Amino acid sequence: MTDVDVAVESDLEENLTEADLEKAEKVFAKKVEIIGGPPPGPATLEAKDACAWFGDRLVLEGVDLVMPKGQVTALIGPSGCGKSTFLRLLNRMHELIPGAALDGEILLDGDDIYATGTRAQQVRMRIGMVFQKPNPFPAMTIRENVLAALKLARLKCSDKDTLVEQSLIRAGLWKEVRDRLDSPGGALSGGQQQRLCIARSLAVHPNVLLMDEPCSALDPTSTRRVEETIDELRGEVTVVIVTHNMQQAQRVSDLCAFFLAAENQPGVVVEQGPTDVMFSTPTDSRTLDYVQGRFG
Ligand SMILES: Nc1ncnc2c1ncn2[C@@H]1O[C@H](COP(=O)(O)OP(=O)(O)O)[C@@H](O)[C@H]1O
Ligand SMILES: [Mg+2]
Repeated sequence: MTDVDVAVESDLEENLTEADLEKAEKVFAKKVEIIGGPPPGPATLEAKDACAWFGDRLVLEGVDLVMPKGQVTALIGPSGCGKSTFLRLLNRMHELIPGAALDGEILLDGDDIYATGTRAQQVRMRIGMVFQKPNPFPAMTIRENVLAALKLARLKCSDKDTLVEQSLIRAGLWKEVRDRLDSPGGALSGGQQQRLCIARSLAVHPNVLLMDEPCSALDPTSTRRVEETIDELRGEVTVVIVTHNMQQAQRVSDLCAFFLAAENQPGVVVEQGPTDVMFSTPTDSRTLDYVQGRFG
């Protein structure tokens, strides 16, 4: 362990004391009902022959990928190979970009999220997203930020205080903000803002959480906290995370998909599989070259 690691570790241990953990257990034991919210529990997400265009340019071709429920899937690959585009296909954000088109199917527990009659807003409630750059509502209070998605979707909640506390504990932010829930979200540090965004996404109890390079703007301590949060979400929420950090992919993911685009060609998935296999004995030599840092 390096000095930095040790400092981070002790800092993390300091974050929640035994008494805090005991109290957190009690808070989690309380059932909070969200009326009109997603069905409970994680869901399997599956892409079948997914393709994406910007104008007439095909940027992603024939992606078949199963992201099993409750597991963490990492999307890896060099810049520009379509990872973010793929993530946006998964919760119907791609269609918000003018000129963007898509083909193929995205199945959420077997149901196509693009089926006629399925509303994008409903899909986005079940499949939340956290972006590279933290985007809390800066003028809203911390508490209001956590409850923002609920309010937007006009969902009723049986116990808002408990929901706020549960969401902030799950995002690893509770102890730092519990005494200032009424201060603005914009006053937090970058790492805290990102965890606030995670808390906001978790508050509607999504079945899937998509994360697009969530730690790339964060310091090592905040990065560790976010990774801990991802680890704790395993089994509860399906996580799909884009990361350029190979150590992070190894630390947090169960499965990996390696995206690659040859020059002037659309991005494809070169290989996918259990993370340990992808990092030790992948089938494609390009996968090994990439995970060992020989390109990208
Ligand atoms: N809004 C957009 N309009 C046009 N082209 C885009 C847009 N967003 C991304 N692209 C292009 O699509 C390709 C895939 O981009 P992206 O999904 O962002 O890759 P990655 O996340 O792997 O870096 C790139 O060539 C990029 O330039
Ligand atoms: Mg990207």
